[in-house]
Amino acid sequence: MTEPAARRRVEAFSRRRGVLACEGVPLAEIADRFGTPTYVYSRAAIEGAFAAYTGALRGRPSLVCYAMKANSNLAVLSLLARAGSGFDIVSGGELARVIAAGGDPRKVVFSGVGKTPAEIAQALAADILCFNLESAAELEIVGRVAADMRRRARVSVRVNPDVDPRTHPYISTGLKSDKFGVAYADTLPLYRRAAAMDHVDVVGIDCHIGSRIGDISPYLQAADRLLDLVDALAQEGIELAHIDFGGGLDIRYRDESPPAAAELIGALAARVDARGHGGKTLMFEPGRSIVGPAGALLARVNIVKPGAEKNFLVVDAAMNDLLRPALYDAWMDVQPVALRQGPARTYDIVGPICESGDWLARGRELSIEPGDLLAIMGAGAYGMSMASNYNSRGRAAEVMVDGERFYEIRRRETIEDLLALESTLP
Ligand code: LLP
Repeated sequence: MTEPAARRRVEAFSRRRGVLACEGVPLAEIADRFGTPTYVYSRAAIEGAFAAYTGALRGRPSLVCYAMKANSNLAVLSLLARAGSGFDIVSGGELARVIAAGGDPRKVVFSGVGKTPAEIAQALAADILCFNLESAAELEIVGRVAADMRRRARVSVRVNPDVDPRTHPYISTGLKSDKFGVAYADTLPLYRRAAAMDHVDVVGIDCHIGSRIGDISPYLQAADRLLDLVDALAQEGIELAHIDFGGGLDIRYRDESPPAAAELIGALAARVDARGHGGKTLMFEPGRSIVGPAGALLARVNIVKPGAEKNFLVVDAAMNDLLRPALYDAWMDVQPVALRQGPARTYDIVGPICESGDWLARGRELSIEPGDLLAIMGAGAYGMSMASNYNSRGRAAEVMVDGERFYEIRRRETIEDLLALESTLP
């Protein structure tokens, strides 16, 4: 019998005879076939990471809604949909992708502070599971659109629990200074208003306190605050069906050791049970921890440029392909695809874009020659999904590896693709 997926440790990338491979495919083979820069993902790693969540939730009512902003390629979505995943969306475009990938709209939750009436109508027509409301104004819009469509909208309130997730300020979302969620003190009145509305059904409660969360305690603090609200609502006769703890679990980029999904879920489930809410559906919205470790960005060294103060490796990937270092000062591991014996030097790894913010890694010891391939690890989340066309660069190709096979799941953009949407004046 094979080991259950939840317990199988899936290594997306490993060295085989010194050469970096994704599952059974040497990365050089992918670069030869599709060029660079190219994102490479491991199917087994994505499915394994998802199974770690569902495995830990087995035996209790639950739903994992993959936060697809992390990586919204249709092939990624369809693998997860087939594994039973729901989806956390933040736009009408993301909903269209879920449907195109064969996902079930009834497993979709809609987050975000600025849902437009058109997006709300689109989501109601698709009969999504729930709107995670972020303001009193949004509730009124949802109620009005639902009434116009003669439909009922299922809603949760996204609570801002004012908990510090101790992460980068750009990706903290559950502090009262953040734009997200409904202020704790305003939550009960908002639920009362929602419960009284004709075209609205109150179904749950939600929070998401941030991203790159490295320990369980902020989650438990948020859970306690949410459970206090669940109790207060029950006393008023408002019974909730689900509790959504959001996403945010970190991954190892360098030397972090974030808790495993099972650890987080075990701790939260114990808290929920202890407080007498074990029958409610537990929901999570993980993004990074599902796809991050499953992906790498493959780039080629074009120029080795020794400098007065620093040595630079100019590669063919840039901040438009992978924005995280430039935007968050993020440290991403860089691995040479083939190992060399020669002496190592310290390099900044930069792209060809015309600004000094265009760097991918700094101060890395590498033995490298022009033409060598590099893999930027942990790039499966918030890599391609944040890519742009800055400097009129077509976005990278994406490839999914499945054992010994690999598939192009997005072709490289051409200049024709970029020009197609524009026109000159008559
Ligand atoms: N749910 C909601 C409502 C969210 O806003 C997010 C992420 C998630 C779930 C998933 O969080 P995760 O499990 O991926 O941490 N671009 C940044 C991360 C932005 C996260 C935004 N919200 C980065 O590259 O680090």
